[in-house]
Amino acid sequence: MESLVNPHVLEVTPYAPGKPVEDIQREFGLAKVVKLASNENMLPIPENVRRAITDELSQVHCYPDSDNHYLRRRIAEYNGVDLANVIVGAGSVEIIQMLIRAFLKPGQKVLTSEKTFSLYRSATTEIAGAAAFVEAPMDRELRFDLEAIAGRVDAATKIIFITNPNNPTGTVLPAAAIRAFIDRIPDDRIVVLDNAYQEYVDHPEDYVTGIGEIGHRRNLVVLRTFSKVYGLAGLRVGYALAHPEFIAILNRVKPPFNVTRIGQRAALASLDNDDFKDGSVRLNRANKAGLFPRLLGLGLRAIPSQANFILFFPGVDVPELNRRLLRRGVIIRPMAGFGIPDAMRVTVGTQEENDFFVAALEAALAEMKK
Ligand SMILES: Cc1ncc(COP(=O)(O)O)c(C=O)c1O
Repeated sequence: MESLVNPHVLEVTPYAPGKPVEDIQREFGLAKVVKLASNENMLPIPENVRRAITDELSQVHCYPDSDNHYLRRRIAEYNGVDLANVIVGAGSVEIIQMLIRAFLKPGQKVLTSEKTFSLYRSATTEIAGAAAFVEAPMDRELRFDLEAIAGRVDAATKIIFITNPNNPTGTVLPAAAIRAFIDRIPDDRIVVLDNAYQEYVDHPEDYVTGIGEIGHRRNLVVLRTFSKVYGLAGLRVGYALAHPEFIAILNRVKPPFNVTRIGQRAALASLDNDDFKDGSVRLNRANKAGLFPRLLGLGLRAIPSQANFILFFPGVDVPELNRRLLRRGVIIRPMAGFGIPDAMRVTVGTQEENDFFVAALEAALAEMKK
């Protein structure tokens, strides 16, 4: 088989998602399993989105609108940009893949930080091989080090991913630093602001959404998603905002009918419900403020986060701790795949979920330290 395959594909490490609840229930014979592994919204979708979904069911024998027209129009209106500035994908992951397919030429490189979203690497590797992916070190507070990234831009660098807030560290860069970085990058390189967790930031007044920049910067693209604060991870809808010429290129590689009818309708309805979004942000903030000191209280190093998850260093063998947590019905995420083998990431849950997680963590750590 290997001789048949594009050799770059053999270099890709498959994405390791959080384990499904059903798998752990079956494997360990557990009735209760709490999954805090994929940075999903802890709340079920609101009533208006549910209604939009059920309403659309009568149409699913027909293909969706391939152009995502009504959703794009609403996204444009919501963000104060033009229809031509918007493209919609089956999750922002699909747009990351489109970007790399459309813009990365043979011999060119993708640049980002270490300790960030692992999909940038696999999406690059499958097209251009592992050598085309370059990571700069982080600063000591586990933030993107924009100096270090800028210092690694060379003639072959084509696409630069800046993840803000970053997954999995939850760290955010101030507006002035991002703006200065964008100004520094030559306009024949592409800067991607992956703003998947934008809604959660603590200081929106000191945050670059990128919307003010895309009008005059043809090399800047902003990624957003409905998977996090909007609670639609299971429907796979994300979008990009960029200059119309940039969007037109992405459209050349966009798979037809890439977003389902139900995904389009649900995303559209969710933009009509800022109360749900704002309530989700408030609840996340409160529950995170409850969870964070409990991790510190267990003697662990945890990184202050402006997103809906917390990265922590348990100080014991992570694969072993993970097995013990799974046996207790807790699914969180070991971070080896994100380049931090001694860390784990927990999504902020409801208070009850957080309690269940902390109790399991405490018990598992106590066993391991015996
Ligand atoms: C930084 C970042 N970008 C993009 C995504 C992809 O989200 P989706 O494809 O669900 O829109 C994620 C998901 O975890 C993420 O953490």
